[in-house]
Amino acid sequence: MSQQSIESLLKESRVFPPDEEFATRAHVRSFEQYRELYDKSVQDPEGFWMDMARGFHWFSQPRDVLQWDPPDARWFVGGSTNITYNAVDRHAQSLRRNKAAILWEGEFGETRTLTYQQLHREVCLFANVLRKLGVRTGDRVAIYMGMVPEIAVAMLACARIGAVHTVIFGGFAADALRDRVNDAKASIVVTCDGAYRRGQVIPLKSIVDKAVAQCPSVRHVVVYKRTAEPVSMEPGRDHYWHEVVQAVNASSAPLPVDSEQPLFILYTSGTTGKPKGVVHTTGGYMVATAITHKYIFDLHENDTYFCTADVGWITGHSYVVYGPLLNGATVVMYEGAPDYPDRGRLWSICERWGVTIFYTAPTAIRAFMRWGEQWPMKHDLSGLRLLGTVGEPINPEAWMWYQRVIGNGRCPIVDTWWQTETGAVMISPLPGAIPTKPGSVTVPFFGVVPDVVRKDGTSCAPNEGGYLVLKRPWPSMLRTVYGDHDRYVNQYWAEIGGSEGGIYFTGDGARRDEDGYFWIMGRVDDVVNVAGHRLGTAEIESALVAHRAVAEAAVVGRPDEMKGQALCAFVTLRPGNQATPQLKQDLAEQVAKEIGRFARPDVIRFADALPKTRSGKIMRRLLKEIASNGQVTGDTTTLEDLSVVARLTAEPEE
Ligand code: PRX
Repeated sequence: MSQQSIESLLKESRVFPPDEEFATRAHVRSFEQYRELYDKSVQDPEGFWMDMARGFHWFSQPRDVLQWDPPDARWFVGGSTNITYNAVDRHAQSLRRNKAAILWEGEFGETRTLTYQQLHREVCLFANVLRKLGVRTGDRVAIYMGMVPEIAVAMLACARIGAVHTVIFGGFAADALRDRVNDAKASIVVTCDGAYRRGQVIPLKSIVDKAVAQCPSVRHVVVYKRTAEPVSMEPGRDHYWHEVVQAVNASSAPLPVDSEQPLFILYTSGTTGKPKGVVHTTGGYMVATAITHKYIFDLHENDTYFCTADVGWITGHSYVVYGPLLNGATVVMYEGAPDYPDRGRLWSICERWGVTIFYTAPTAIRAFMRWGEQWPMKHDLSGLRLLGTVGEPINPEAWMWYQRVIGNGRCPIVDTWWQTETGAVMISPLPGAIPTKPGSVTVPFFGVVPDVVRKDGTSCAPNEGGYLVLKRPWPSMLRTVYGDHDRYVNQYWAEIGGSEGGIYFTGDGARRDEDGYFWIMGRVDDVVNVAGHRLGTAEIESALVAHRAVAEAAVVGRPDEMKGQALCAFVTLRPGNQATPQLKQDLAEQVAKEIGRFARPDVIRFADALPKTRSGKIMRRLLKEIASNGQVTGDTTTLEDLSVVARLTAEPEE
């Protein structure tokens, strides 16, 4: 976040009480009611979560709500269920059977509607395809697709048979895909021939071919035909989706799985070069995503809900697929770019599908602001009743614009704080109950006990900045880092209070104001949120140093008006290489090739040396200052060679 945004957050004093009319229809109607439910949920969390779990189908009932042996939790112990049964079959067997589950719109304007009954049939067919291809309970299936309904079908089909899906965002390049597939040891990759983005085709299948050539675990690739681009199909290994579903029948019983059966692995960036495979399990994730979706989006039977996130990220998992479908909601899914063919595309979608709830990211909102009010003004947005935001701190200016222009001053805004690791929203207003303050994520969800603490674990005073922690386990918490439980323990639980203390460290800085409202200040580790994408600076550095011209690289985030944060790379070259504009381009391409285009640094600066401590550690704090302000004001006493900083600050950026 920029200094300016932080300052405006610090000065923000506007308060917006819930709209009275909205509140009268809401699931939670007043602050007092929230308080009562919240207090109950933290005084008797087990009773609270057991009550919540009763809304789902269990093949056998949980014996215990929680076994907590910090930092290892088991939720709904002894229960057996199937999340797909709860998200699809239940509705397909009820009055909702002909209700739209997914309203899909392709980039070129073509549309598809999948009712719960139709979705059920598709999921059953694909579950049988997976079985036929030899997928067994616990096997990993990698999903690398564009935003087509089949991405949800593939996930639900995995869960139906107890297989573990790992969705890899379609913007990742072949090397990044390969590393994730290998880490998960996936036996199947489900992909598309291509995906449309701004009218262009992203050749997903040929990227898969490149990756899979180095993935010994992969036995089959299933290709959903979306673009009809010519692709090469390897006999025996590769199969077209439309052909394999012809060869199976549509009856498939959901497999009852233990509540703690892994549901998915989702890779996310951490502070080392290796991405973390965040593991979520079945029962707790199911209950928490559905309940948060119901209360935070104040979902009602006739809502049309549109979340703009890609299914390749956690927001897409929890709030495009699982949460809404578990609640029997109607989800709008859009394939392409928000500015294709023009900048009014999302508003046109909202108007035509009658969207009532709209959920997006601050980066998108800032882009809408820059594009101008004329785009939303062209469309009738009067059907909207609730707006949401997620992914990075929202500056009050963007919040106010969202409220005024998109919400026409009528719609409450829910600013939802959570992470890949938390699985579901942890801190957010309930729209009928909690007065909002622009830029604040407000108060914890039921059962969640966050705090802002100092390094020693003691609570900060009101308005004192500190580390955001969660002091209680919650049902949708990650259970481990795939294949690296030590990393799970050390990364999240050892930082504050020791690994057995049971305090989860989020990696975010925050403050809590005099009313108990939370204000997120952004990451305090080497993770950056660029345009809603979470990136580890270490991953980008390792892509840069893989280039033969590069000796060392240090990547830092710096505030950016549009993207929240931008990436600035400082690079030193090996002897014999020239610091040319061409080389800058080559290095950006190198990152695009290894990770994906979305991870390319915004600025690359050549340096003859990087600032280091006497023990040889790169002083990123100084680089952050140089990238942000062009100068260094902080402590430089541990710096080995002061002249390095002098040279870096003296040079202009480009
Ligand atoms: O820094 C916080 C920021 O996004 C991080 C989590 O990123 P990721 O795992 O990719 O998940 C994003 C979608 C849930 C957090 O550590 N973040 C998320 N939501 C907010 C936020 N920062 C401020 N306000 C939010 N509402």
